[in-house]
Amino acid sequence: MESQDLKQAFTKVFDSQADATFFSPGRINLIGEHTDYNGGHVFPAAITLGTYGAARKREDKTLRFYSANFEDLGIIEVDLDNLVFAKEDHWTNYPKGVIKFLQEAGHTIDTGFDFYVYGNIPNGAGLSSSASLELLTGIVLEELFNLNLERLDLVKIGKQTENEFIGVNSGIMDQFAIGMGADKQAIYLDTNTLEYELVPLDLGDYVIVIMNTNKRRELADSKYNERRAECEKAVEELNEVLAVKTLGELDADTFDQYAYLIKDANRIKRAHHAVLENQRTFRAKEALVSGDLEQFGRLINASHVSLEHDYEVTGLELDTLAHTAWEQEGVLGARMTGAGFGGCGIAIVVKDKVDAFKDTVGKTYTEIVGFAPDFYIAEIAGGSHVLERS
Ligand code: GLA
Repeated sequence: MESQDLKQAFTKVFDSQADATFFSPGRINLIGEHTDYNGGHVFPAAITLGTYGAARKREDKTLRFYSANFEDLGIIEVDLDNLVFAKEDHWTNYPKGVIKFLQEAGHTIDTGFDFYVYGNIPNGAGLSSSASLELLTGIVLEELFNLNLERLDLVKIGKQTENEFIGVNSGIMDQFAIGMGADKQAIYLDTNTLEYELVPLDLGDYVIVIMNTNKRRELADSKYNERRAECEKAVEELNEVLAVKTLGELDADTFDQYAYLIKDANRIKRAHHAVLENQRTFRAKEALVSGDLEQFGRLINASHVSLEHDYEVTGLELDTLAHTAWEQEGVLGARMTGAGFGGCGIAIVVKDKVDAFKDTVGKTYTEIVGFAPDFYIAEIAGGSHVLERS
């Protein structure tokens, strides 16, 4: 969407001129899944699908929100002095949380504003539309209220909103990828120290195809919190002998030697995934840096296998996409991406086979699952930014 169109759309809804326009990307994760809340590494990248915004500061204390994705909801009004979670306030709970936590962090946001939003990330697809909106709100506030903020502060406020306002115990990957994204680069992040490295995503003749199961991520939040609790419990059990805070601190050998301390078969599998996925993520980053795309692809496949059998967060839809993708000519690797339980997968496919890939995988998926998937080519984008100031 062009800035010009955004401004016009803003004026149509709010009958005034926007102060500025903004864009905040979505993200894919190449590898390193369910490792971020386990103190491990992740390897995501921001994408050109994302959330657009236009905003104008007001003189009073009213917040007015409008999303072109939820036209039926019309303008949702919230009082700046009443920033509490309310189900009926729908998507605006995300911006409300961000405003509240920025205020709590000592930033002055003393008037309301009008906020127009439009997103082209497919809804519920696991490409982080919520973190995209959180960071979008962050940069809108930064701009309108001249806040003096480090980007990492905004990333943390986004995560805090998700954890404490919305109630999903997620890690920092999504907000970090979206806030810190860089054009054509993936981010290799240590979620324990927040040290990171930008790695050029140079795939030569290959592209990343995003495969959308079109299955909404129902139950995703409760299952997500359950997995997190399982991993925490496993750490507690390991603590009987090992002084570790997170599973990310363990290598495969050490885990192997002490897994007997974990008293439940499922928890052993969950922890096994977290430990090995962390190591795979490092190896995948090395493979990419050294240009060994075949190895990179195999590690991506291995990640899916582990998420399917050990972490058990895939399901028929994601498995069908990954398994069918593996069988196609010109595919280096494929896996689910994001939290799982529906949402999207990614496949690394040689350019001139992409059409055949979509065709065959689409047909097989529809036969097995009963409805069609969607495919998009992932283009890697920069992080959240101002598009234009008036
Ligand atoms: C969701 C969460 C992230 C991360 C992934 C799984 O996207 O928001 O923090 O845990 O799931 O890797």
